[in-house]
Amino acid sequence: MKTTGRMSRRTFIKGIIGGGVLLAAGGLWLPQTQVGRKVQQKAVDLFADGDVMNLRQMMTQDPAVSRHIMWQSAAAFKEPAFIEYRRQGSGDALRAEASERFFTDDGVDNFQYGGTIEGLEPGNVYEYRVASGDKAGDWQSLTTPAKDQSSFKALIFPDSQSNDYSDWKNLVKVAAANNPDANFFVNMGDLVDNGEDHTQWQAWFGATEPLRQSIPFAPIMGNHETYNQDWKVRLPHAYLNYFDLPENGSRDFQNYYYSYDYGDVHFVMLSSEWDETEEFRPGLLDAEVAWLRDDLAKTDKKWKVAMVHRDVLQYRISRMPDRKEGFSEEGTVFMPIFEEFGVDLVYTAHLHTYRNRGHLYQGKRDERGPLYILTGVAGNVRYPGLWTDHALDDYVAPQPETDNYIVLAVNGDTLTSTCHLPDGTEIDRSVLQKA
Ligand SMILES: [Fe+2]
Repeated sequence: MKTTGRMSRRTFIKGIIGGGVLLAAGGLWLPQTQVGRKVQQKAVDLFADGDVMNLRQMMTQDPAVSRHIMWQSAAAFKEPAFIEYRRQGSGDALRAEASERFFTDDGVDNFQYGGTIEGLEPGNVYEYRVASGDKAGDWQSLTTPAKDQSSFKALIFPDSQSNDYSDWKNLVKVAAANNPDANFFVNMGDLVDNGEDHTQWQAWFGATEPLRQSIPFAPIMGNHETYNQDWKVRLPHAYLNYFDLPENGSRDFQNYYYSYDYGDVHFVMLSSEWDETEEFRPGLLDAEVAWLRDDLAKTDKKWKVAMVHRDVLQYRISRMPDRKEGFSEEGTVFMPIFEEFGVDLVYTAHLHTYRNRGHLYQGKRDERGPLYILTGVAGNVRYPGLWTDHALDDYVAPQPETDNYIVLAVNGDTLTSTCHLPDGTEIDRSVLQKA
């Protein structure tokens, strides 16, 4: 493996209604679905405003054969809800049952719905819609990758936390318009500035409309997801309820960390928020490390990509003279594991600056280790002049920084990561090759 072509152009769950299952330890709901019931197409009325909000596709462990669909409603549906789906252009549809979950956060009641479509054929284009009683929503596109799909593209967005989400909205719009062939998208944690503030979540969902309805979303939790309205830490209730993620087999930490395969790439999505959650649900670090080692040992995919919110390096800050350059606690925990199991590429976030470190191994620049990319900033919270450059920074985005997004393009033996400004301009590129 080598890097070539670098261009420095440089709830609180208050109650459960319907068919959901409450996991006693995790307080989380797992969707129950019934797949394959065929329905005749008949004339239906469209839903009214507020019936189906924030419709989204969520990543599953194997997106070639399944897709989890979620949405929110202003009020509980009076009749059972379904996800109807069909091959594009086909007349008849199948349907999967959706379950309802009710939770209250920030003093606001949330009616959440979710269901998993299973048994999809790899490499096909489908369409789906929400249906209940004699009403239905608009058909939305849903595409499955082929089992051996050799090329695909992911959009990776750094921290989107904001006090005004219009920059985030614009960035998503530009990234989506420039990459209509994107297969899924990632947000690297700190999706919102305050994890309890429901208005911020609704702004976040509003901005992601160009992507979330038509391609799956793979989120990572950040520290800001754990902040309540008093800026004290708590469990990330809203995040955990908004995003159903692939099961990781852990009793206590479902939706905290997970993995999935896309084409010949195995993705591990980690949580670095053990300090925030320890008081309320102890043991995240140990459980996650054990899971990560087991998960990476089992995969036989050609490429391994890891993503985690907090960065692996520690930076000096001019107003904190005692803070030394080095490695963060998260780096100390994860970097040896990434090296041991041959992870190719690591994306991090949290510092709101884009930096490419090249390959690191045993604390030094060395082609034997993974490529480490600090992903930047995608909201309007920026830290101009805060960080003193690290000796391991190979490329730093032009200062002061604007927003940016990353395109991860996989094409057979080549994996390419490019960084783009809000106008789409590419400022950095890394290429990994593996025969
Ligand atoms: Fe953060």
